[in-house]
Amino acid sequence: MLKTTLIKATEAGAKVMQEYFQGKFSVSHKEGINNLVTEADHASEKVIFETIKKEFPGHYILSEEAGEIVMDSNYKWIIDPIDGTVNFAHGIPICCVSIGVEQDGEMIMGAVYNPFINEFYFAQKGYGASLNDKRIYVSEESAVIRSCLVTGFPYSYLDQPNGPLDVFSRLIRKGVPVRRLGSAAMDLCWVAAGRFDGFYEHKLQAWDSAAGFLIVEEAGGRVSDFLGEKYSPYQPHIVASNGKIHDELLKWVNDDMS
Ligand code: IPD
Ligand code: CA
Ligand code: CA
Repeated sequence: MLKTTLIKATEAGAKVMQEYFQGKFSVSHKEGINNLVTEADHASEKVIFETIKKEFPGHYILSEEAGEIVMDSNYKWIIDPIDGTVNFAHGIPICCVSIGVEQDGEMIMGAVYNPFINEFYFAQKGYGASLNDKRIYVSEESAVIRSCLVTGFPYSYLDQPNGPLDVFSRLIRKGVPVRRLGSAAMDLCWVAAGRFDGFYEHKLQAWDSAAGFLIVEEAGGRVSDFLGEKYSPYQPHIVASNGKIHDELLKWVNDDMS
């Protein structure tokens, strides 16, 4: 029932995205001029909530736009009603719904759906990851210098040593291709599908990565913070990879190339 509801909720949110895409919708700004939220984000969140609450009215919910519905429950749904809102608002079809489900503080299921390219990613802890019901696996690349990477940049720039531009410049100066899609959930799923060898980002929120990090792990990859420790979506740093380049990618991120 959990899996069925997760799939239903993800599909319902994605249907709303499709209805609004390329039509007219209101756009407003959160903190910072480019941190957008559209009518579609709220509408997607609403149908996702309705779908979950119908089956599991007692579950805890953490969602980007509405915040938290605190419940005394072992289960927590972590929702990004549209990941890649800037893309969405500009008619760029690199955006998705992302929903992770935690049980007793451990991510047990995740779903990410981009309806514009019809890619539905799903993972259940211990049961592998899939794209449109077909098992997926991370890539085999073993060196960062031969890798194709992806990253993202926060809406308000982090001007700090080893900040997003420092790491980006370090890799680009050595000729490593580093893409920037604008959707952390898609970035993670494309690592899981073996398209990218690795992904790193400096400032994510729990809803950006909750589903995607489990999908990478279940596809055979590794996800950690910048120190290589067990990943928690409740802290900002992420490095996700095929596992083989992980330790080396951590060194590039931390400028520890000795
Ligand atoms: C954003 C995207 C982007 C990442 C930002 C996130 P949103 O989520 O995942 O790739 O770089 O940090 O905030 O705002 O489109 O849901
Ligand atoms: Ca997001
Ligand atoms: Ca969002």
